[in-house]
Amino acid sequence: MSALSPRPDEVRAPLGATKETRLLLLGGSSEIGLAIARRLAANGPVRPFLLGRDPERLSQAVSLLESVGCTDGEFDVLDADLLSSHATTIARAFERMGGFDLVVLAIGVLGGQAGLDADISESLEVMRVDFLDCGSLLLHSLRELRNQGRGTVVVLSTVAAERPRASNPVYGAAKAGLDSLAQGLADATASSGVRVLVVRPGFVATRMTKGLKPAPFATTAEDVADATVRALAGKAHTVWVPGRLRAIFGVLRHLPRPLYRRLPL
Ligand SMILES: NC(=O)c1ccc[n+]([C@@H]2O[C@H](COP(=O)([O-])OP(=O)(O)OC[C@H]3O[C@@H](n4cnc5c(N)ncnc54)[C@H](OP(=O)(O)O)[C@@H]3O)[C@@H](O)[C@H]2O)c1
Repeated sequence: MSALSPRPDEVRAPLGATKETRLLLLGGSSEIGLAIARRLAANGPVRPFLLGRDPERLSQAVSLLESVGCTDGEFDVLDADLLSSHATTIARAFERMGGFDLVVLAIGVLGGQAGLDADISESLEVMRVDFLDCGSLLLHSLRELRNQGRGTVVVLSTVAAERPRASNPVYGAAKAGLDSLAQGLADATASSGVRVLVVRPGFVATRMTKGLKPAPFATTAEDVADATVRALAGKAHTVWVPGRLRAIFGVLRHLPRPLYRRLPL
């Protein structure tokens, strides 16, 4: 395990020549992101590269992944708010690992639950991180994958992206923007050998939701990881976790507004 320290030049196997999964986790301390990495490692060899803003947390996360079978984990520092650093940081990670098979975009902030009365700086952070920062990282990652001619990006969206809810309009709107960008880019790159998988979980019990009352059909990071890894093995472009939320939100999205706004969502 190491941060980005110099290491001797070595001849790298061409991408795809090994069954090892080279994984780039954007949001290297995300509970859901790390659960996906652990779930992948249960299936076969995984070489993780974590990007995040807290080196100590990233170092611990790499050690944790290595303790469950991942090998040669590395990390680098990325503050998603530093938009001007995205291109070089992502390119450096691809260069360092000789490319990636899978990129997981797990950065996100939930922000205050006070809606219009929330601290405006908190609301702006949610809009900035969840749409602008994540959108930029998605674009840079997809360009790198398209250049190498293969690979998949998993985008952690949310059921809240399906239809804005009065209880958390800022988060819902920012995630809807990211979700929409990901779906559009998935179609735009469909013939380039690159795949985008959008994952829409409901309430997940993680650090992000600590202290909040669990919503109906609440799940765990492990459930999201299981569903994501299952979907990666197939051809889906969108996966709901748990799966029944797809049908439920399929109905909710078509409810008349006067009725929808009265629901305790
Ligand atoms: N938990 C849920 O109920 C739920 C439901 C649906 C979708 N999701 C989505 O799933 C993804 C992962 O969430 P999670 O539950 O695993 O929460 P989490 O453990 O809090 O992970 C969030 C990640 O975002 C990172 N992050 C936030 N702002 C950042 C910034 N400016 N620069 C770099 N990294 C930043 C955090 O890094 P630090 O460690 O440095 O804070 C952390 O790695 C998010 O996109 C979230 O919106 C979560």
